[in-house]
Amino acid sequence: MKKVIALLLCLVMVVSMTACSGGKDKETSGGSKEGSVDVGIVLPTKDEPRWLQDQDKFKSVIGETDYSVEVLFSQGSSANEKTNVETLISKGMKVLIICADDAAAAAASVEAAKEAGVTVIAYDRLITDTKAVDYYVTFDSVAVGEAMGKYLADNATGSGNPLYLYAGKATDNNAFLFFQGAWNILQPKIADGTFVIKNSSEAVALQDKATLTREQQSAIIGQVTTNWDFNEAKSKAEAHLTNVTAADKGKVYVLAPNDGTSRSIADVFAADADVSQYFITGQDAEIASVQYVIDGKQSMTIFKDTRTLATDAMNMAIDVINGKTPATDTTYNNGVIDVKAKQTPIVVVTKDNVKEALIDSGYYEASKFTGLK
Ligand code: GAL
Repeated sequence: MKKVIALLLCLVMVVSMTACSGGKDKETSGGSKEGSVDVGIVLPTKDEPRWLQDQDKFKSVIGETDYSVEVLFSQGSSANEKTNVETLISKGMKVLIICADDAAAAAASVEAAKEAGVTVIAYDRLITDTKAVDYYVTFDSVAVGEAMGKYLADNATGSGNPLYLYAGKATDNNAFLFFQGAWNILQPKIADGTFVIKNSSEAVALQDKATLTREQQSAIIGQVTTNWDFNEAKSKAEAHLTNVTAADKGKVYVLAPNDGTSRSIADVFAADADVSQYFITGQDAEIASVQYVIDGKQSMTIFKDTRTLATDAMNMAIDVINGKTPATDTTYNNGVIDVKAKQTPIVVVTKDNVKEALIDSGYYEASKFTGLK
C-alpha cells in the first residue's frame, strides 16, 4: 500500500528537463525552494543508451512535488562525478542517488556527501570500499550473468563448441557480478567438454575452477574487457577471429556483456565467412538490440525494467526525507560493509517473447520496430 501511495505521489510530479553536455550535463525539476535540491541524481554517461533509458524513466517518475530533483551526468569521468556531487551538496541535497562511473573512485564523492549529512543510495552499480553507502537499488546482476550462461548452454549440443568470452568494464562492479553469474553456468559446461574457450588464455588457465576469486575474475576480465565500448568490442572480436583457425569457428557461442557490445561483436562474427552460425547474449533491451533480436542478429537480450528501478530509488529517497526506513530485501558486500539493497528481477527476451515482454508490458511502442510478430 505504502509503495502504491509513493508511486502515485511520484507519478503526479512534473519535471522540466533540459539537455546540456559534459560534466555540467544537467536536468532539473521544479522544486519548492529556488535553486535548492532535495534529491540529487548522478548518472554515468549519456553515451550508453542504457542510461538514457534510466533518465527517461526518472523523468516519468519525478515530477511536481515539494521535493526538487536535479539529474547530472558524469560523462564517463570520476572527476566530473565528484564535481556533480559537490554541486548538489552545495544546493542542500538531502538524498543522493548515484550510479558510479568507477566503483572505487566514487568512494570519495559519496564520502563528501555523507560528511554533508546526505543519505547515499547507490543506483544499479555498487560503490566499493567505503562505508559511505546507505542503500543500494539494483537488478539481480548475478542472475543476469546466469541467464546469459544458461542461454548459451541451452543452445549447445555435443562437445567442442567454440566459446568466445567478453566482459564489461573492470571498474564497474557489475562487470564482475555478470561474469560470476555466467561462469556459474558455463564453467561446468567447459569442464565437461561442451564448450571450448577460444579467446582467453586467462580463462583457459582457470577453467577447472568452479568459483573464482575477485583476482581471478580480474585476470579474465582484464583480458576480454570491452570497457562497455562498442569500438573496443569490435576490434577485440576482429583480433580474436584473426587469431584462430577456421576449425575454431563454425557454429560459435559468444558471451557478450551488454547490448551495445553485443551488436558490435555480432556484426564481426556475422561478417566472418567461416562462422556458420552464432549464438550471442546481451542485456538492457536497447531499442537497436531489440531490433537485432527480431531480425535474428542478436540471440537474446535481458530486459531490466528501469521503470521499477527508478521508482524504487525515488521511493527510497522520499522515505528517507520523511524519516522512514526504506524497505530492502537483501544485502551486497562492497568490500567494507554489507549494504542494504532492494533487488529487482530480470526478464530474458528472445524472438519468442519480445512482444509480450517489451510491447505488451508498455515499455516500448510497437512502432519503434519492424518485423514484429
Ligand atoms: C552496467 C549496467 C548494465 C549495462 C552496463 C553498460 O553497470 O548494469 O545494464 O548498461 O553497465 O553501461
